[in-house]
Amino acid sequence: MLLSPPDVGPLEESYLIRALRSGWVAPLGPEVDAFEREVAARAGTAHAVALSSGTAALHLGLLGLGAGPGRTVVVPTLTFVATTNAVVYTGAEPVFVDCDPATGNVDVPLLAALLDELRTAGRDVAAVIPVDMFGACVDYTRLTPVCAAAGVPVLEDAAEALGASHAGRPAGAFGQAGVFSFNGNKIITTSGGGMLVTDDGTLADRCRYLATQARQPVPHYEHTEIGYNYRLSNLLAAVGRAQLRRLDRMLARRRELRERYAKLFAAAPGVRLLAEGDTGINCWLTTVVVDPATAGWRAGELAAHLHAARIETRPVWKPMHLQPAFAGTVGAITGAAERLFTDGLTLPSGSGLTEAQANRVLDAIASFLEARA
Ligand SMILES: Cc1ncc(COP(=O)(O)O)c(C=O)c1O
Repeated sequence: MLLSPPDVGPLEESYLIRALRSGWVAPLGPEVDAFEREVAARAGTAHAVALSSGTAALHLGLLGLGAGPGRTVVVPTLTFVATTNAVVYTGAEPVFVDCDPATGNVDVPLLAALLDELRTAGRDVAAVIPVDMFGACVDYTRLTPVCAAAGVPVLEDAAEALGASHAGRPAGAFGQAGVFSFNGNKIITTSGGGMLVTDDGTLADRCRYLATQARQPVPHYEHTEIGYNYRLSNLLAAVGRAQLRRLDRMLARRRELRERYAKLFAAAPGVRLLAEGDTGINCWLTTVVVDPATAGWRAGELAAHLHAARIETRPVWKPMHLQPAFAGTVGAITGAAERLFTDGLTLPSGSGLTEAQANRVLDAIASFLEARA
């Protein structure tokens, strides 16, 4: 049983066939335009640009904000590698910031101190990329004024957070731009795809232009700078539109699963849910954090028990500052991300999980907990 497999069915099939039969196959078309409008409406932004991946959206968002050689971008050490890779693609230098252990999201006071330090050191910071970890929004009520005071734009990595919110505002809408992923394991999927959302029309136009080989608006092929082939295809956008129609039901199913996990683990000492109490969470991946001294067991033991029952779990991301690819990269590191990497475990959370499958996972966890009570 997988952690978060694609949840697709007859609606996606009918949308895809309709798009195929319409003749709009290669590559842009009305499904892309409609998908952009619909995602922008969901995120509460004025513009959206459909792209081939969340990574492409991060890359173009950073270019649009002026990231490049000689500049610095602050990224969480606790994230998926794509966040950091996108910074490196631009030629800018990533600097890591550690997380709040309660949520896994950026430690805002630490970020404030880091931005001060970077300014004192004469570093030119192009952007901060907060990541809405596992579908729980960063505390933007605190982060936004910190970045505004430092004069640094925010690119929200909401790859995992479509449908989440903070203080009543949807994920994706908090920075100068936000990014969603529609990769196969995300809350909705286009099999592969992403979207940049923003209120800034100039930024949206710049990203759209860079995503189509930076082609000048003239009949012949004229290029004054380097671009990319990053647009989403019309066929995949059709799948995304079907998924979007089902989004609220899929969110409800994930929430139901999270609540069942919460109930089960509530009786287990030394175990908490990551981002416990966050009512705006989209419940993308429910994650437990185990304090081995209190629990009497380690997250890895539960993972091994579930693996034996053919149930997939994953550790929380291995922090970026521990990755050989980023050896030598500096940052403000407290050890919080490292502890979550050791003590955290993500559990099967897919909206397509049947009742029988959910019961099987919960029974397997219950038997593990009983054996250790
Ligand atoms: C936090 C985060 N950022 C970026 C990405 C990249 O998205 P994609 O796989 O669509 O390129 C992902 C997911 O894959 C992610 O989880």
